[in-house]
Amino acid sequence: MSEATSHDTQADTAGGAGAEQPLLPDAFTAKALAGRTVIVTGANSGIGAAIVDACAAAGANVVIDWVTHPETVDPATRIAEAAGSGSAMAVQADVGNVADLQNLIDQAVARFGRLDVMINNAGVETRHSLLETEEKDFDFVMNINLKGTFFGAKLAAQQFIKQGGGGVILNVSSVHEDWPMPGNTAYCVSKGGARMLTRTAGVELAQHGIRMVNIAPGAVNTPINAQTMADPEKAAALNHSIPLGRVAEPDEIGATAVFLASDAASYITCTTVVVDGGIMMSAAGL
Ligand SMILES: NC(=O)c1ccc[n+]([C@@H]2O[C@H](COP(=O)([O-])OP(=O)(O)OC[C@H]3O[C@@H](n4cnc5c(N)ncnc54)[C@H](O)[C@@H]3O)[C@@H](O)[C@H]2O)c1
Repeated sequence: MSEATSHDTQADTAGGAGAEQPLLPDAFTAKALAGRTVIVTGANSGIGAAIVDACAAAGANVVIDWVTHPETVDPATRIAEAAGSGSAMAVQADVGNVADLQNLIDQAVARFGRLDVMINNAGVETRHSLLETEEKDFDFVMNINLKGTFFGAKLAAQQFIKQGGGGVILNVSSVHEDWPMPGNTAYCVSKGGARMLTRTAGVELAQHGIRMVNIAPGAVNTPINAQTMADPEKAAALNHSIPLGRVAEPDEIGATAVFLASDAASYITCTTVVVDGGIMMSAAGL
């Protein structure tokens, strides 16, 4: 139990569930995820790597899922271990393959004894309109973005229930779970599916104490946007369209993931947290 804070008084006065404990024990400290096991998919690049570093810094044991670029995996593991008080391990798993996902979870549990947080982050896009999309493009995007997220959530929930309940599932979706991006139709459809997955399965899983939340980034400075960011005119136009005037850095999504995975977010489920610098609310001007 951490030392008493002014929150104790507030909780006592409110008389709610927090009455016997500090309202937010360790939730906003470097120990927010101490001792918890966190799996992050697609974790050796971009947003996934930043989530790994943030969770490690918050004290978690982290499991780095990867499929390509093995040369980045060892450094990522070492950086995560250096960042926090927990340990890190890497597992190769294609999220579009349910057997791989089960192996990912089994290896995490074998090493750390339990699973507390599943972060379905792996994602791809092909940037095709409806008329341009071939069956192979559709299958590629859906297999990773939607099927991977769906079964990642299912298998994590099964593990959580086996352990006695509780647990957090975070899905890195996108503002495009709700906001059209003409020219990237299958991607939008896959993220829209993840939006409804979280609303539906989140309700189903609440009885087990499992929370399920989507994180919807706007534009983030990662390899998925490398082409746009490398073109000064396109990058300037993108920055100009964002009320905060810039794209996000990956660690800003990492910080959101730590908050949502922690007890500080104990009443947040079945919904989406948008992290977009205001882009969805910006207007062209009348
Ligand atoms: N960068 C952005 O602007 C942005 C905005 C909104 C949402 N997102 C979402 O954030 C997530 C991460 O994207 P990012 O920007 O870091 O891009 P990224 O390309 O850097 O990372 C994607 C990761 O997914 C992994 N991956 C691909 N196929 C996989 C598979 N079959 N199994 C396991 N892993 C696989 C890749 O190896 C990579 O590590 C994606 O779901 C993406 O849709 C990104």
